[in-house]
Amino acid sequence: MHRLLGRYPGYNPRVDPSVSNVFATAVYRFAHLAIQPMLTRLDANYREHPQFPSVSLSQSFFAPWRIVFEGGVDPLIRGLISRPAKLNTQDHMMVDALRERLFQFVRQLALDLGSLNMQRGRDHGLPGYNAWRRFCGLSAPRNQAELAQVMNNTELAQKLLDLYGTPENIDVWLGGVSEPFVRGGRVGPLFACLIANQFKDIRQGDRFWYENPGVFTKRQRLALSRVTLSRVICDNTGITTVPQDVFRAWSRSNRPVRCNKLPSVNLKAWKEQSCSGSGGQSCSYPLPSSLTERKRKKKRKSRV
Ligand code: HEM
Repeated sequence: MHRLLGRYPGYNPRVDPSVSNVFATAVYRFAHLAIQPMLTRLDANYREHPQFPSVSLSQSFFAPWRIVFEGGVDPLIRGLISRPAKLNTQDHMMVDALRERLFQFVRQLALDLGSLNMQRGRDHGLPGYNAWRRFCGLSAPRNQAELAQVMNNTELAQKLLDLYGTPENIDVWLGGVSEPFVRGGRVGPLFACLIANQFKDIRQGDRFWYENPGVFTKRQRLALSRVTLSRVICDNTGITTVPQDVFRAWSRSNRPVRCNKLPSVNLKAWKEQSCSGSGGQSCSYPLPSSLTERKRKKKRKSRV
C-alpha cells in the first residue's frame, strides 16, 4: 500500500475526496472475509475471560446488551488486538455466521452477506470484474486459461466461468476477493489498486489533511505522526497492557507492553507560548507558518 500510495504530493482542489461507488459497494467490503466466527473475549491477562467467555458472532448480532451486562468493551478489544483476523483463502472465504446466519437473531429468515454485497453492486450498476481490471491497467482475462492464471487456480477459474459464462460478467466484489494476495497484503492486485486510488483521493482532496502545510506546525505534525493505535486504546479504555503494534500479530518482536511504557501524544506542541512578565505582552498559540504569514499580512494591511 505504501508503494501504491506514494508520498503525499500536497493538496489539490481539483481532486474529489468523496468515496466512490465501487469502493463502498464492493472494494472495502473485502474485510467481510476477514471476520472470525467467534468474538474473542479476554481477561486482563489475555486469557479466555472466566466470567464472559468468547461468544459466537451469530449470537452477537443486535445484542448490545452483551456489552452492558457482560464486561464492557475491554474484553472484546483485547480479543481483537491479540488474535489474528480470519485469513481469506480461495477455498474458505466467508464464514457461515455471515453467509448463513446473518442477523438470524432478529429475523425469521437469516441473510447472506455475500449475496447482499453482490446484489448491492448490481443495484448500483457497477461494471463487471474485467472492466475494473482494465481501469487499473491490469490484464482482462478472456477465457478459462487466462482467468486461471490471474487467480492462480484452475478449479476456481472453472467454477467462476460455470457461473458467469465470461470473466466480463463476474461481480467485481467476488472477482476482487477471489484474487491471490499481493505480496505482504491481504487483497489482490485489483483491490490494492482501487483502495490505493481511494486513499490517494481522500488524502489529496482534503484541505485539512494533517500533512497539508498550514494545517499544523512542524512540531505538531511530528507529534501527530508518532500517535499509535496502541496508545489510543490505552488512553480510552481500561486496558493497561497492549501489543506495541496492534496491527501485527503477537510475536517476540511485538510483545505486549504496559501502557505507561508507551509515549503519550506530545501536547506541548499545542501549548500557548508563555507570556513573560506582566507588561501586557500578548500570548499566542503556536500557528502553522502559512497562518502566521496571513496574520502578518493582515496586520500590515490594517496599518496602511
Ligand atoms: C461482523 C462484522 C460485519 C458485519 C456483520 C457486516 C455487515 C454488513 C452489512 C449487513 C452491510 C450492508 C450490506 C448491504 O445491504 O449492502 C455492510 C456494508 C458494508 N461493510 Fe460490513 N460488516 C462487517 C464488517 C465490516 C468490516 C470489518 C468492513 C471493512 C473494514 C466492512 C465494510 C463494509 C462497507 C464498506 C460496507 C458498505 C457501506 C456503505 O456503503 O454504506 N464491514 N456490512
